[in-house]
Amino acid sequence: MSLHPTQSAPAPWKKTFQDHLDKSGGASAEFILATVTPKGEPRARTCIFRGFWATLPDNEHNKLPKNPAVFESDCPTFTTDARMDKTYHVFATGKGQGDLAQSRSGTGGGGPVEAVFWFKQTNTQWRVRGKCWVVAADDIEGGTPEAQNSGTMTVKAEVQRYMRTKTDGGSEADGNKSTWSWRREMENYFENLSPMMRGSFKNPPPGQPLAEGRDDEAGEALGQKAGHLSDEPLARKNFRVAIITPEQVEAVDLTDPAKATRQIWTLDQEHGGPGGPGPSESVGEWNRVETWP
Ligand SMILES: Cc1cc2nc3c(=O)[nH]c(=O)nc-3n(C[C@H](O)[C@H](O)[C@H](O)COP(=O)(O)O)c2cc1C
Repeated sequence: MSLHPTQSAPAPWKKTFQDHLDKSGGASAEFILATVTPKGEPRARTCIFRGFWATLPDNEHNKLPKNPAVFESDCPTFTTDARMDKTYHVFATGKGQGDLAQSRSGTGGGGPVEAVFWFKQTNTQWRVRGKCWVVAADDIEGGTPEAQNSGTMTVKAEVQRYMRTKTDGGSEADGNKSTWSWRREMENYFENLSPMMRGSFKNPPPGQPLAEGRDDEAGEALGQKAGHLSDEPLARKNFRVAIITPEQVEAVDLTDPAKATRQIWTLDQEHGGPGGPGPSESVGEWNRVETWP
């Protein structure tokens, strides 16, 4: 496993990316997610940004207990369904080469993705490349040792390396770190969705022909609402939070055609990244190069 040490400072692109996001819908901005099929073919689809991992946005309707605000990361997240192709793609193309059954049963993944954001308000296109990890509520923590499968261990190890301790926390934050719960974070991701959106995780299997019917006994149907994740076994079986651990990020600002440049930041090899195009300037764990657009 090529693990890089925990990143000590925010990625150099994070602040600008966040500013552009805030001007263009914030947490709920749409982006295009590309995955690779096991045959090496591209697949792209629209998804909704749900914040950076460990700093889930506030939602006035969500009254659940929250994790202590002790971590932050540079990892974009979205929610998805275990039965969708994208979940299988990131399992099958990850190092563990997960099969279809594994991709539907729990935490894992690690395949390559690219997330593309077009921010009209700032005339900027952002492309975030990295690995995609898929987290399920039931095996991520607190389960039996058997449920803590190798997928769970890998995902926790890989994602934790992107989780920085917030600097303003002091010694109290150190104590709170041990109470931070992956499962509680999952429950809050679900709770942040509307009741209808939560209910979609009880839909009949996405992509399966209507002729094959649906599992009425399990409660599969379209147009349902759902409550808390802990009270919804069917939705919990299908609900996933996907975390992108970025390795290369580029931004092209098209505001002024006479001055437009493209910036490419690449996580350096020492920190588990692919290195990157030179000549480049080193900013923390990231190398930056400015190119013609
Ligand atoms: C505006 C919009 C937002 C969407 N957001 C998501 C999302 O956040 N997560 C998701 O899995 N699918 C989302 N979808 C659905 C996907 O685009 C896609 O149709 C579905 O996930 C199946 O894709 P797949 O079989 O390639 O995995 C969204 C679709 C639209 C039109």
